[in-house]
Amino acid sequence: MSATGPRTTFVPYERPVRAAFVGLGRIYDLNVRAYLDNPDVEVVALVDPSEERCAQRQADWPAARTFASAAELAASGLEVDAVEALLPIPLHADGVPELLGYGWHVNLQKPICNDLAGAKRMLNAAVANDRLLRVMENYIFYEPLMKLKEIVGSGELGEVSGYHMKMVASGRGGWDVPGSSYEWQFQQMRLGRGTLVFDDGWHKLATAIWLFGPIKQVRAWVGTTEVVPGIEIDAPTTLVWEHHNGIRGVWDITLAIDMYLRSDYYTNDERWEITGRRGYARVNRCTGRGIQQPSLEVYLDGEMRSYHALDDDWASSFRDSGRHWLRWLHTGEGPMLWNVDEAVNILRFALAAYASSASGGTGVDPDSLN
Ligand SMILES: NC(=O)c1ccc[n+]([C@@H]2O[C@H](COP(=O)([O-])OP(=O)(O)OC[C@H]3O[C@@H](n4cnc5c(N)ncnc54)[C@H](O)[C@@H]3O)[C@@H](O)[C@H]2O)c1
Repeated sequence: MSATGPRTTFVPYERPVRAAFVGLGRIYDLNVRAYLDNPDVEVVALVDPSEERCAQRQADWPAARTFASAAELAASGLEVDAVEALLPIPLHADGVPELLGYGWHVNLQKPICNDLAGAKRMLNAAVANDRLLRVMENYIFYEPLMKLKEIVGSGELGEVSGYHMKMVASGRGGWDVPGSSYEWQFQQMRLGRGTLVFDDGWHKLATAIWLFGPIKQVRAWVGTTEVVPGIEIDAPTTLVWEHHNGIRGVWDITLAIDMYLRSDYYTNDERWEITGRRGYARVNRCTGRGIQQPSLEVYLDGEMRSYHALDDDWASSFRDSGRHWLRWLHTGEGPMLWNVDEAVNILRFALAAYASSASGGTGVDPDSLN
């Protein structure tokens, strides 16, 4: 697959982009932050089959028109340049080609879709319609992680020896998730695309590639825990991998179903710790507020340096990822973060982990998957 961006005849906009939100559920609350008070964009339409959602979100955009489906918006004659696609994951593979087919650029929430065939259909639709497809990744706009990458790149930790990511999913705390979201999440789980490894996990795999580049092989042991009869969560799970540059990473996923975790968003206790020959740097939290220490700490030569003034509100990463896209539409320059190729590499990483686990933990090269 090749990048959509350079293969389009895209001409940057010199006026505000006319945008539509397609899907007005839980994550709209964070994606919208990029659009509020942003002169790069004018929100002209809101699309969701739920009248309640449309009415609720109309309060943010009184001048926008509301529609029950993308087809109704397309038929309305209202001019739209780009859509913010916030659809349930099972709808991505068919829904995104539909949106591109109406002639709209698409900023899609992760994960791109469940398999390579679906991703290929999306790419073909982008090329056929000469439109851009971006798969947004907010974690790489989270300031503590950006600072972590900068510190590693500066060489102050010495040559990187390895790194570790940790994720504890807890069942208590955080914001409310609508019951309808659980329905499609359960559907995903039944398809073998669990909420921890594939959905939330997408971000961890994305940060791995963003930090250290392409993956040479991954070994995985994906477990399950039944939380209520018939519903299994994909933990305990452990992934280990090696990048092409020889750096190895480990990611452990643990479920602490009865643990209360303070969070303004999802209850996810996360850490990234990179060890170099001289010291280490650790991001202590991201989505939730598990460890109430500074979000980034650096240990070198017997001293700990703490970062107290980073923007460590997880929501800010959505704001900045979205602003990056809306600005990109005005310049066409620099990385899209992520284009389709990059998103497909993350998908391959996840699929290779599943293939490894199914084969008892043998090493799988993501590029070997068809
Ligand atoms: N970046 C992150 O950290 C993050 C976090 C949560 C969710 N997400 C992603 O955001 C996307 C949406 O997740 P969510 O939690 O908001 O889900 P949600 O279930 O809360 O909302 C989905 C919305 O889409 C609407 N919808 C359903 N079919 C539609 C259609 N055909 N056209 C238009 N709207 C339709 C539903 O009515 C609902 O309002 C998913 O891709 C998910 O993976 C990303």
